[in-house]
Amino acid sequence: MKVIRSMVLVASDPGSADRDAQEVYRRLQEEIRSLGLVEEVVVTTMGCVTRQEAHPLVIIYPEAVAYGPVKPDDVPLLVERHLREGQIVTDRLVPKELFGPISWLSARRGTLPAEQRVVLRRAGVIDPEDIEDYIIYGGYEALGKALTQMTPDEVVGEISNAGLRGRGGAGFPTGLKWRFVARENRTPKYVICNADESEPGTFKDRLILEGDPHSVIEAMVITGYAVGASEGYIYVRGEYQLAQARLRKAIAQAREMGFLGENIFGSGFDFDIHIHSGAGAYICGEETALIESIEGKRGEPRARPPYPTTHGLWGQPTVVNNVETLANVPPIIQNGADWYRQFGTPHSPGTKVYTILGNVNVTGLIEVPMGITLREVIAIYGKGIRNGATFKLAQTGGSSGSIIPASLQDTPMDFDSYARAEVSLGSGALLICDENTCAVDLTRVLLNFFRKESCGKCTPCRVGTERAYRILTDIAEGRGTLSGIEELEMLIGGLRQLSNCGLGQAAAVPVRDILRHFRAEVEAHIKLGVCPVGVCPMSERQLVVA
Ligand SMILES: Cc1cc2nc3c(=O)[nH]c(=O)nc-3n(C[C@H](O)[C@H](O)[C@H](O)COP(=O)(O)O)c2cc1C
Ligand code: SF4
Repeated sequence: MKVIRSMVLVASDPGSADRDAQEVYRRLQEEIRSLGLVEEVVVTTMGCVTRQEAHPLVIIYPEAVAYGPVKPDDVPLLVERHLREGQIVTDRLVPKELFGPISWLSARRGTLPAEQRVVLRRAGVIDPEDIEDYIIYGGYEALGKALTQMTPDEVVGEISNAGLRGRGGAGFPTGLKWRFVARENRTPKYVICNADESEPGTFKDRLILEGDPHSVIEAMVITGYAVGASEGYIYVRGEYQLAQARLRKAIAQAREMGFLGENIFGSGFDFDIHIHSGAGAYICGEETALIESIEGKRGEPRARPPYPTTHGLWGQPTVVNNVETLANVPPIIQNGADWYRQFGTPHSPGTKVYTILGNVNVTGLIEVPMGITLREVIAIYGKGIRNGATFKLAQTGGSSGSIIPASLQDTPMDFDSYARAEVSLGSGALLICDENTCAVDLTRVLLNFFRKESCGKCTPCRVGTERAYRILTDIAEGRGTLSGIEELEMLIGGLRQLSNCGLGQAAAVPVRDILRHFRAEVEAHIKLGVCPVGVCPMSERQLVVA
């Protein structure tokens, strides 16, 4: 399969032609040819998409980065740094005051599985500490529309019609969750933004908050209006100091401008937001443990039902939504459900923000339409497996996600396709592992995380994660037995069915997956007494014995 990894668009309108655009185009082709990149990089032309002062304009996908005005002599630098090294040349970017909302991005869909920025459309483009910048880029328009032109019921309806599903891991329909809270008659009600994000490898929420804090604040006010709540809490991971500082500043600015507080937009609706800093426990991301933590108690999950939608914070009806879920709300209200449904798949509309990690050439953050495949993510955004090695497996969805073999890399990454393949999309962390990764070792490291993060409240999880970790350690250190594998299988059942919350249930998943997809490799550790990949401690012993 030929994979075009970059597309370069040069503005070719008459105004640009007067400014040397043709020469820029010619030099781009020349440089790309001389560096042997013609198979991977396509150079083409486009019409005028922004103010003439920015022209000659050059836009590079999939990053959707706009450079301008580009002089012919800038071309070698752009080709070398951006197209060869994957670095954005920040001092050649179009000045932001010349560049409007990049709505034309959608017109290019289908040409290349380009990044599609809905949630991150302003991140990196605006000054996140300046509310005026946010407003210039359409900020608080959705709130104005919701409060002045829509009833709360219509707001809930728009989110339901858009088909937005929670981005915190479970993929629960957001509109339905809001409806459960909206129909409760008891007040006060609360809106909680879950920004705990303590899962190793996941940092999408941090970058949304750091890059565009007002989008989450605006979303929370809209949510409050839709469900009838007047108070919101953002539960932010304690280590996220910059995100917290920016949120505090953004909240103060929003209050000053009248987007938070009393009688917002003269609508008679009041809403305010508090920030609650977490103290570094993974379990506090679980929504009921998070609620306990805000209430000043030890962060342990509650038994469910009742759910937070009826008995949440202080026992009152509460919406708990993830940062990325909320960041989708203003663009949906602003542009409508039909607009949103043009991205993604019919049952998983919209985009997904992923963090790509592990043995790929380029790691980092992307936002792409739901339904893209892992193969495309690795080839296009990860720029292939590092050192020319072979892709072996990926863990999708952070530590609590699934381990999938290379044979599943063409499964569309959307909630339903993944659910059918018994894979979890989870939080959006994609850990890509090459042939030098040992499935036993990886699972042992994960179980070490779970046994340490287990809150200890229920026995299946407290004892089960510890026992599974010890069996995997025995296998990795050459003391494994086939009966240990049987015991692991029993533990998986116990963890999944008897654990009180998602942490214990998720701990079973990587164990289930290695036994399902890499059983021969696990058994080789036991039967042959060697780690086939040469990673586990027993490999060293084998070498010494040999
Ligand atoms: C152990 C554990 C940790 C979790 N951590 C987070 C988290 O950091 N952020 C988050 O949004 N959801 C987390 N969740 C999921 C939340 O409980 C909840 O489903 C989510 O916040 C709902 O928001 P959504 O519907 O917008 O996805 C976690 C769940 C479990 C079981
Ligand atoms: S499953 Fe684990 S983390 Fe969840 S309540 Fe039980 S002991 Fe605590």
